[in-house]
Amino acid sequence: MASSEALMVVFWLIGSSFFLLGTSIRLADDQDHRNEEDLVSAACNRTFYIDICVSSIRSDPRSSTISDLKGLADVALNVTFVHGMETLEYIKHLNSNSPAVSYRSGCLRDCAEVYEDAVQSLQDTVHLLRIRDFEKVNTLVSAAMTDSDTCEDDFNEVLDDAEGVSPLTQRNQYFSKLCSNFLAITKLLL
Ligand SMILES: *[C@@H]1O[C@H](CO)[C@@H](O)[C@H](O)[C@H]1NC(C)=O
Ligand SMILES: *[C@@H]1O[C@H](CO)[C@@H](O)[C@H](O)[C@H]1NC(C)=O
Repeated sequence: MASSEALMVVFWLIGSSFFLLGTSIRLADDQDHRNEEDLVSAACNRTFYIDICVSSIRSDPRSSTISDLKGLADVALNVTFVHGMETLEYIKHLNSNSPAVSYRSGCLRDCAEVYEDAVQSLQDTVHLLRIRDFEKVNTLVSAAMTDSDTCEDDFNEVLDDAEGVSPLTQRNQYFSKLCSNFLAITKLLL
């Protein structure tokens, strides 16, 4: 009798420790998730374009596994790179639908060239970030940012009302803001 009561106590203890274990694992998961959210909000809070910073990083599936600032910088770099690549594709698509000899197609060709440079710079930045060469990171990404301004200015200089306005204004501005945010985040790694 006494031994079966003892057994029940043991079972009860085992059962409740599993319950407690389960609860603490769940709490740890919640904690990780909160830490990652805190990290993203705190880092983005140091950028010029806070909302774009948070939304662009959250849109990347890898953002849920971010555990430190370096991981955050990697994702910020990648969303910038992906936007640059998509813009390049978009420029090529626009160009294939423009008359071959026109101011517009001339601008589009220039823009394709500067975006090719820009995405190359961002690709080179992956390695520079790994070896913590922040000076070169700054030089390359600032140049990429200037590239999108060059593309935009090109249109504004040559297009008159008859040829419309830059078809890339929003993309150029967004690209420039992503570059700016990424640079602000890398400053936190210093
Ligand atoms: C953002 O920074 C401001 C001041 O620098 C601070 O008051 C605010 O609490 C910060 N917000 C977050 C989400 O970190
Ligand atoms: C961005 O992520 C994609 C997919 O993981 C990868 O193929 C690409 O090399 C990355 N590029 C940069 C510049 O981070």
